[in-house]
Amino acid sequence: MTDREPTAGPGNLPGDLPGDLPGNTAPCPRNREGAQLSAAPRPTGSRSVPDPAAFREPAAFHDPYDPAALHDPRTQHDPAALHGPHVLPPLQLGPYLLTVPVVLAPMAGVTNPAFRRLCREYLTSTSPSTGSADNSPPHVGSFPREQQPSPLRGKNTPGAGGIRGIFVSEMVTARALIERNAESLRLIAHDPDEYPRSVQVYGTDPRVVSEAVHLLVHEGLADHIDLNFGCPVPKVTRRGGGAVLPWKTGLFAAIVRGAVRAAGPGGVPVTVKIRKGIDEDHLSYLSAGRIARDEGAAAVALHGRTAADHYSGTADRTSIAHLKADLGSFPVLGNGDIWSAQDALDMVRQTGCDGVVVGRGGLGRPWIFADLAAALAGRDQRYEPNLGEVLAVMRRHLELLRDHFGATLDRADPAGAQTRACRDFRKHVPWYLKGYEVGREARCALALVDSFDAFDAAAARLDRDRPHPGAAACGPRGRGGSARPVSLPDGWLLSQDVEDLCPVARRG
Ligand SMILES: Cc1cc2nc3c(=O)[nH]c(=O)nc-3n(C[C@H](O)[C@H](O)[C@H](O)COP(=O)(O)O)c2cc1C
Repeated sequence: MTDREPTAGPGNLPGDLPGDLPGNTAPCPRNREGAQLSAAPRPTGSRSVPDPAAFREPAAFHDPYDPAALHDPRTQHDPAALHGPHVLPPLQLGPYLLTVPVVLAPMAGVTNPAFRRLCREYLTSTSPSTGSADNSPPHVGSFPREQQPSPLRGKNTPGAGGIRGIFVSEMVTARALIERNAESLRLIAHDPDEYPRSVQVYGTDPRVVSEAVHLLVHEGLADHIDLNFGCPVPKVTRRGGGAVLPWKTGLFAAIVRGAVRAAGPGGVPVTVKIRKGIDEDHLSYLSAGRIARDEGAAAVALHGRTAADHYSGTADRTSIAHLKADLGSFPVLGNGDIWSAQDALDMVRQTGCDGVVVGRGGLGRPWIFADLAAALAGRDQRYEPNLGEVLAVMRRHLELLRDHFGATLDRADPAGAQTRACRDFRKHVPWYLKGYEVGREARCALALVDSFDAFDAAAARLDRDRPHPGAAACGPRGRGGSARPVSLPDGWLLSQDVEDLCPVARRG
């Protein structure tokens, strides 16, 4: 599961939280430089062109994450002991060594190959690691990827340079997968150079989930599988799925066990994404974390909200700290409200988590992944693009969407791919333009584009030199709203036993 040794210190003792929880001041023991880093002033006037290539390491950069250093027996068991300002050591996630322990959260309708590529480019090009600027499959050689058996594809050893982040696809339901639903198969499409290919699966029936994982692994369609136990939407929870499922501990264990067993022969790691529980009176994250660990999952990601919270308030980092303290060396990823690199540093320092999962913080700001890589490597660079630079990223996003839809939908119809790209892109426009003064008319024109020409015409009317607006361009975006009662199957809360399942939940 993980090669990492438990880190000494109070943060890993059950019931004993890292000292840097809100209100405390002692730094997290895992984060040797964290206090200094978070106190470092953000460089003023740090705006730079959001071009990943601009962020290559200076030649003289000493890289404590250098795979060669990881083979050094003095540092084998404690990469953090290497000198250097890194905030997090590399994370062993199943067979993968994540040199940048950052995950793009799965987001339905958003994390398609186009968006993943943008985020990936920013994260990987700023990696402190040596080698290529991409997560490319290390063992592919001259064979087409699809023809290789999955185990050959999977092993990212330190010697292979490690993996810089994981970028999870949009969720698919297990049942749709095993029924080979065309739209679901399209949703799990990956770019040829994407690696590891990460797929999120949702289901409530252990047998169906296991079959879906078997299909993904044995047909060589995924290199990493994430199980969704975090969805709070009523149509999911009223069937006993998503964030309310871990409450039924036996059912949850059966699903994780089945998925791990089905994925195991292919060497594909399974991670589990959870919320705190149904509501504050029905928390399940500690039992879910233990079950995930004991059933062979590679990591657990905790979004610090309950299903009832939906997206209201702020994510509770204390729960993430509790989970990490409870699970010892088992990898825990912290999720929720990481809107900036500083938030990621705070998440790590306050919880002792092993990596971060970022969703809405990347909407309209894929360059946040460059900031995250820099911050976690102890560097101060932050992107603050001017309007022209943002427009250039928007145009590229459109082109990537066209390529994606062209490859998966409209092979014979390039105009159709462009139209589809424009339609998909519209929701991103307010996120990209948040904080920039462009005027209502231009905002509307860009949000209604139906062709690349229309985009270019609308963009041409804007002042490209308009500077980054500072805090107004950052902060919350995407889903929000208020807490709400959770829709549940009848009798769901009466017992945590799987035997007491409502029949409707068994269908999943
Ligand atoms: C538009 C959108 C779609 C989402 N879709 C999924 C999904 O398919 N699967 C999932 O596990 N979580 C999904 N989430 C939740 C995110 O993965 C993440 O856990 C949540 O947004 C909290 O992280 P954040 O504060 O970094 O956004 C979605 C969130 C948003 C905003």
